Amino acid sequence: MDLFDAIVNRKTTNTRFADKKVTAEHIELLIKMASHCPSHFNSQPWRFIAVTDEKIIGKIAKIAGDSMVQLMEDGRFWRQYRKYFRFSEEEIEKTKDGIHIDHLPAVLKPFVKTIFSEKGGKVMAKFKVPRILGNDEEKLVASSPLLFIISLTKDEYKPGELSGFYSVISMGAVIQTLWLVTTAIGMGMQFISTPGEISEKWREISSMLNIPSDYEMCTIFRMGYVDPKIKRPTIDWKSSQRKGVSDLAFRDVWGKEI
Ligand SMILES: Cc1cc2nc3c(=O)[nH]c(=O)nc-3n(C[C@H](O)[C@H](O)[C@H](O)COP(=O)(O)O)c2cc1C
Repeated sequence: MDLFDAIVNRKTTNTRFADKKVTAEHIELLIKMASHCPSHFNSQPWRFIAVTDEKIIGKIAKIAGDSMVQLMEDGRFWRQYRKYFRFSEEEIEKTKDGIHIDHLPAVLKPFVKTIFSEKGGKVMAKFKVPRILGNDEEKLVASSPLLFIISLTKDEYKPGELSGFYSVISMGAVIQTLWLVTTAIGMGMQFISTPGEISEKWREISSMLNIPSDYEMCTIFRMGYVDPKIKRPTIDWKSSQRKGVSDLAFRDVWGKEI
């Protein structure tokens, strides 16, 4: 695949993956390609875990599902993320950012704005919607053939310090490389961030994976082969809009047209 095509076609995979194990060759390829990424002073502050053990994946899936329920029930999810929700093509065309919740059961469509709000969140909690979405998330993660974990050495990853800043930038290069390689070989990936927003849940996963105390587990992704025939989840979003060049960049000094 051409590099430009891979960049443009790279997308978050929200659906299930094909029912197929990821080959050992592809796992090695992903790690090899990631190893070529830049890092400050070539420190290579990252270590990876490719999780294929179904039991471990199942346990992480349960924690991911429970985290989603907790974040939605206590209102954090709505407070934090409401500003990113868009409810129509016109809305997302206007801002050219955020996520468009474009796929949900017909009965919910007239109420979509109310539902995806802090107030609506309370109503949803009454109807156990967070539990339903949490179960969906659990099933989605559990059905993934591969979870990919990135940890950073605490020798470099020191939040608030320059080396911490640089190691997070370096990890960003790894993440995009993984994403482009998966795109090029017919795979997809999705962040699993929710357990990271509840420190005890994150610690639980980190200790289950035996991550040593001198490393910080930073990101978890689900990965697998994509299959366009697989149906979208009951409630789903897309976010392919992007701001234009002139919205994003200036020439010479801030504010001057590119
Ligand atoms: C730091 C970070 C955390 C993210 N967390 C999640 C997540 O928990 N679940 C998810 O589905 N997508 C997550 N995303 C993906 C973004 O929502 C997605 O990249 C954005 O909407 C653009 O969509 P695209 O990746 O399809 O281009 C995350 C992305 C980043 C960079």
